[in-house]
Amino acid sequence: MNTASWLGAVSNALVAEAPKGTFWLPPAASTTAHNTDNLFYFIFYLSLFFFVVIMAAMVAFAVRYRRRKHGEKTADIHGHRNLEIAWSVIPGILLMVIFFWGFTGFMDLAVPPANALDIRVTGQKWVWAFDYPEGINSNELVVPAGKPVRLTMSSKDVIHSFYVPDFRIKRDVLPNRYTVLWFEAPNPGEHNVFCTEYCGAQHSGMLTKVKVLAQADYDAWIASGGGLGQGLSPVELGQKLFQSKGCVACHSVDGKPMVGPSLKDIYGHEVELADGTKVMADDNYIRQSLMDPASQVVKGFAPVMPTFKGMLKDQEVNALIDYLKTLSAEPGAH
Ligand code: CUA
Repeated sequence: MNTASWLGAVSNALVAEAPKGTFWLPPAASTTAHNTDNLFYFIFYLSLFFFVVIMAAMVAFAVRYRRRKHGEKTADIHGHRNLEIAWSVIPGILLMVIFFWGFTGFMDLAVPPANALDIRVTGQKWVWAFDYPEGINSNELVVPAGKPVRLTMSSKDVIHSFYVPDFRIKRDVLPNRYTVLWFEAPNPGEHNVFCTEYCGAQHSGMLTKVKVLAQADYDAWIASGGGLGQGLSPVELGQKLFQSKGCVACHSVDGKPMVGPSLKDIYGHEVELADGTKVMADDNYIRQSLMDPASQVVKGFAPVMPTFKGMLKDQEVNALIDYLKTLSAEPGAH
């Protein structure tokens, strides 16, 4: 690691480390991020250096050895042993440095510390879900600061990819197989999570946050059952869930159809299904649509909604129904 850490120190000196991020990279907010950044900067500046040297030599040679008279010949050169050794050995050493540095960094990222906190990550079109050892589930990743976290990830449908740019971690999330990621965020803060594997119409909306809390705040969050509905009325909780559970990726609340029908003026109205039958959108219809969406596909829409069975508590289903009532011009009619 001596060579690597020495080179790391050099590249640190080349780029002032601003906590706000640099021109090239977002803030480095995990314990492994700096090593990744240093290697990136090392390769970047090394490439820049050789680009400048090679381009300058090319221009200089083109000017100096330009053919000035017809029939003019250059010297007959058969080789230059020292020069050939230099241009083989120096790049060879540089490549070994990059390999060694990258490999040790890869190993650090591939092997989670034994004392890591275990959180399960589930990707599905188009929402992330996180399950905690205490039985809590949430749609934002909440973690304690200064503690390693191991994410065991899988998908319910297609391939997604879990990416936290501030932590410099990214890994595919696959159906029928587990993948693992780990990180440790030393300081409290909020960081963006992106899906970086094209997974369908709302791929770009498959966003969430990592919330890093001080240990005491994290313990309080766990003790409160993940802060479910605290201090919120059922309608407010429903509105919050509508965002956090990803409903908003497919359903508008202003009447515009998206991947799924708009939910404006649905509650208390008749809905025409794909088979031509009409049903009343009441509490039971909404509950059924959440638990078994394929059973009641609305006419004109594809049956792409995932089931929320096991992902929503009764209290949450009730809150969503109460929220949908407020979107209807005749709440509670019929
Ligand atoms: Cu999930 Cu893209």
